[in-house]
Amino acid sequence: MNRAMVAAIVLSVAGMSSQAQAAKFDPSESLANFQPELSEEFKQLLREGDVEAGADFFERKCANCHDVAKDGIHNKGPLLWNLFGRKAGSIKEFEYSEAMINSGHSWDYATINYYLTRTDRAVPGRIMNFRGIRKDKQRADLLLYLRQFNDNPPALP
Ligand code: HEC
Repeated sequence: MNRAMVAAIVLSVAGMSSQAQAAKFDPSESLANFQPELSEEFKQLLREGDVEAGADFFERKCANCHDVAKDGIHNKGPLLWNLFGRKAGSIKEFEYSEAMINSGHSWDYATINYYLTRTDRAVPGRIMNFRGIRKDKQRADLLLYLRQFNDNPPALP
């Protein structure tokens, strides 16, 4: 095989994979274009949730990159103190992706839950290297844990 052929194959494979990426999610499913709502089942999971399990999950899956304490610092990811009520991508000292800055939503139970279900669907182009959490219960427990780290912890929905 000559060089030109190899280059043509490499280019076509690269083209295919970027097309596949682009086609993976419908832009109407991103938080920039979509307002998610909480199901009754999910609200029930929040009411019956296990904060300890949420703390444990956070330690294992998020704490490498995120701090939550009021006097905490930005790490690979932004500080999550006062996450509820924050406009996405709005901490001045943190270098977010353009995608996060322009996503236009604020963080509440429904948007955080939706983001953490599938981060690349919710904010295509996000730089958070974490795919998502499949289990509703794990997300509910985690939200219960996160809501505490706030000047005004939000009431349960
Ligand atoms: C590998 C590092 C990493 C891990 C693991 C990680 N994050 Fe992130 N997180 C980031 C980065 C980087 C950003 C900024 C994303 C962007 O700008 O696109 C971010 C952004 C966020 C945001 C948006 C914050 C804002 O100010 O708008 C939330 C919410 C969040 N992460 C929650 C979590 C939770 C909860 C977990 C655990 C399930 C987690 N992250 C795991 C790195 C990480």
